Amino acid sequence: MIERKFSIKQVVEKTGLEESAIRFYETAFKEYLSFTSLDIDGRYFNEDQIDILIRIRDLVTKRGFSLDEVKKELKKFLKKKESSGGNGKNQPFSARPSSYARVIAVTSGKGGVGKTTLVVNLAISLALRQKKVAIFDADLGLANVHILMGVKPQFNLSHLIQDGFALEDVIAQGPLGIQILSGGQGVRELANLREEERRLLLRQLDKLERNVEYLIVDTGAGISENVLRFATFADEIIVVTTPNVAASADAYSIIKILLSMEPNSKIGLVTNEVDNMYHSKNVFNRINVAVEKFLNYALGDLGYIVSDDYIKAANQLRKPLLLSYPTSPSAQCVKAITDMILSERVFVNTRKESSFQDLMGALRRTMAGAAV
Ligand SMILES: Nc1ncnc2c1ncn2[C@@H]1O[C@H](COP(=O)(O)OP(=O)(O)O)[C@@H](O)[C@H]1O
Ligand SMILES: [Mg+2]
Repeated sequence: MIERKFSIKQVVEKTGLEESAIRFYETAFKEYLSFTSLDIDGRYFNEDQIDILIRIRDLVTKRGFSLDEVKKELKKFLKKKESSGGNGKNQPFSARPSSYARVIAVTSGKGGVGKTTLVVNLAISLALRQKKVAIFDADLGLANVHILMGVKPQFNLSHLIQDGFALEDVIAQGPLGIQILSGGQGVRELANLREEERRLLLRQLDKLERNVEYLIVDTGAGISENVLRFATFADEIIVVTTPNVAASADAYSIIKILLSMEPNSKIGLVTNEVDNMYHSKNVFNRINVAVEKFLNYALGDLGYIVSDDYIKAANQLRKPLLLSYPTSPSAQCVKAITDMILSERVFVNTRKESSFQDLMGALRRTMAGAAV
């Protein structure tokens, strides 16, 4: 098989790194980058080397790893790659390690369509199936995940960022071992982090992502760019809408913006407060027809939640629906949505490695942009 060769220009394009950075990494990590270099003057790169450069880039920029830490990681990954046999073509070097959580962002155009209700009950439903789940409540408004969960977190992201608290001290324990990280005012503070603080934070969040299988992010509502950019960095995005025509139009515009920001986004729709499945299909189709026609994209149909007074009753009890009224019609709907998500047929995205890091990085950048 002929090995493809890439010039430095092509490597710059593929990795998004500047030439000087590539040269630096080449020197700093020569034992990892030179092993396949067949050219005496090393002017060409092969695909393996590009993979490694991308890996290094992510470890350095997204995780704030030091040189030694990067080397350690590279050693681990190369070992894994060797032991998995083959030349890595079928198993790309940058494949998501199984130790990272699947990150699902829940968003919508309008508030009050049922995002937080879905986030909380999806988490419960996954936990009831023995999955390890965490929620990151990044809603800048009322931090209401914990209210619906009947939990009172003492601390939030601010304490992690500003006061040097450890992640374990900031996380609140919800029912069934669900870990809740409240964004609170800390979400705003991400904009002003100093490099050192950011490294610390990323380290801490990395721990969270490694500790659970599912990380569900309540993004809050809004067509604001911050909120949406935030969502595009998750593995998958659930857009919630109601049958209300204005809500559907907003769902469509959100999807349009999400796709323009990240054409590879995996987006699924949940229709809330519908009468029944037929009603839901109508609402789904109305949006999906437009999405297919104008955005050339096929939405995942993740299911629906019927309009149900038990949801309000559960909220008043401050005990999640799936625990307070597990046999209610709306609870059955949430279980069906969970099946859909667990089936990984329509709605799984393997393109990313550690999306939570991306997501935090992006949020910080956009917040920084917004603050100017
Ligand atoms: N399927 C439903 N049937 C009845 N009420 C619902 C349903 N879904 C949500 N609600 C109610 O609508 C309100 C908004 O829900 P919430 O989950 O807080 O929305 P969001 O997070 O999108 O703002 C809450 O009072 C909630 O109890
Ligand atoms: Mg909400």
